[in-house]
Amino acid sequence: MTGNSKYSSGMVYVTLLILIILIQGKPLYGSEHKQLGEISKEISHYADIALKIIDLAVFGKAQNRSYERLATFTDTIGNRVSGSKDLDLAIKYMYNALKQDGLENVHLEPVKIPHWVRGEESAVMLLPRNHTMSILGLGSSVGTPKGGIEAEVLVVESFEELKRRATEAKGKIVVYNQPFVSYGETVAYRASGASEAARVGAVASLIRSVTPFSINSPHTGWQWYDPGVPQIPTACITVEDAEMMARMASRGTRIVLRLTMGAQTLPDADSFNTVAEITGSEHPEQVVLLSGHLDSWDVGQGAMDDGGGVAISWEALSLIKDLGLRPKRTLRAVLWSAEEPGGVGAAQYFQQHKGNISNFDLVMESDLGTFAPLGLQFTGSDKARAIMKEVMKLLAPINVTSLEEHGEGTDINMWMKAGVPGASLHTADSKYFWFHHSEGDTMTVQDPTEMNLCSAVWAVVAYVVADLDEMLPR
Ligand SMILES: *[C@@H]1O[C@H](CO)[C@@H](O)[C@H](O)[C@H]1NC(C)=O
Ligand SMILES: *[C@@H]1O[C@H](CO)[C@@H](O)[C@H](O)[C@H]1NC(C)=O
Ligand SMILES: *[C@@H]1O[C@H](CO)[C@@H](O)[C@H](O)[C@H]1NC(C)=O
Ligand SMILES: *[C@@H]1O[C@H](CO)[C@@H](O)[C@H](O)[C@H]1NC(C)=O
Ligand SMILES: [Zn+2]
Repeated sequence: MTGNSKYSSGMVYVTLLILIILIQGKPLYGSEHKQLGEISKEISHYADIALKIIDLAVFGKAQNRSYERLATFTDTIGNRVSGSKDLDLAIKYMYNALKQDGLENVHLEPVKIPHWVRGEESAVMLLPRNHTMSILGLGSSVGTPKGGIEAEVLVVESFEELKRRATEAKGKIVVYNQPFVSYGETVAYRASGASEAARVGAVASLIRSVTPFSINSPHTGWQWYDPGVPQIPTACITVEDAEMMARMASRGTRIVLRLTMGAQTLPDADSFNTVAEITGSEHPEQVVLLSGHLDSWDVGQGAMDDGGGVAISWEALSLIKDLGLRPKRTLRAVLWSAEEPGGVGAAQYFQQHKGNISNFDLVMESDLGTFAPLGLQFTGSDKARAIMKEVMKLLAPINVTSLEEHGEGTDINMWMKAGVPGASLHTADSKYFWFHHSEGDTMTVQDPTEMNLCSAVWAVVAYVVADLDEMLPR
């Protein structure tokens, strides 16, 4: 680009401003703390260690280890829904495996978790033709009376349409055929579809599964009853059946279904968050927390949601141990119990540990798949973000340097809201919701090479942040 006098004078002005700020001697990061320039230099000295971690995870002895561990775990235990015997077995399995791996301070922290069981369930179309539908009851749903509920169907596309047609809903089974916009938006139909239908007198509700793609698979998930509204049975149906009933209804065809659900909620169960550490050498009380959730839905293998997050959080510690590294602060892997009912295990962990919140340096969660990593989503102050950007540069050898907005994760949100910097793994997740909460969530979704890369990202970030001279600024 050729010279342009307007830009030049603008640049002179900006340069003068910077000079004035510097002359006033106002340090960017407070006088008692290191300045960003010094911290950048400190971080750049970790390039060799980052390379060693990447090498071990991607090319070396640990190649495919997180995948193999996850495969053995999910093939042995299978899925593990909150409150189930399978979740108990999963916790025992992980406790033993983490101990056997030689990690430190492996222990279980007691929590109370929801215990919902789906029982026998079925949905049969009786009119206009006999057709058995694939359904999955939604977590926390009540069951139907024995023999089921037989009723006519009202198909709606949205909550707005339901309100408009409220007088037609009484005594009916409301079928939501809402289009998939995004998980964050569309999941509202799963979360509160039953209570909205009950409010206008429906006897049950069925939601189109919250997924952008379907091969006739129902995708379950937790739902919440509003207090003060009758609790009606609710389940998800496939995209295909929802669209078919919408077509039938638009032709004026009367649809009658029989819905039978044996679902019930049992008393809360005893469970545990599972913890393993590499204890810090200088500030053992200060913590970088890496996590995924150990519970899953009661379908498929829970390999993707969230076996992958569990496996890379464990693997990150193994990689650092294998290299004989010990950061200044403690690295703590936490495998949460009962995320699916709404972050229940993590909420109790927060209550149990928030007294030490000033010692939490960074909280990390991977719960959006362990596909090819693209970057890290981060929530924290501008100062912390500037430091994290430097840390991400260490991942240039595998091209995962991007630091994005909005760290997320049901299990770490409370910490981030309370001001602790938080990070989540962003991967090539365009197919995540194809498999989410369905029979399709199996090891077949996972790829060893992608998991190697995720493990490397997780380990490099956690290790370097835990070893810096200073904690991330809030
Ligand atoms: C890791 O997995 C990849 C892809 O399946 C395979 O090509 C490679 O041989 C595996 N490496 C080891 C050490 O098993
Ligand atoms: C539908 O199935 C029921 C038994 O479940 C049977 O009695 C009825 O005749 C069938 N209707 C048609 C139209 O096939
Ligand atoms: C808080 O930190 C102190 C000092 O490390 C430790 O002794 C104590 O167990 C911690 N409390 C909790 C609830 O983690
Ligand atoms: C590195 O990542 C960027 C952004 O994800 C991508 O556009 C680019 O093709 C990648 N380069 C290599 C060498 O993989
Ligand atoms: Zn999850």
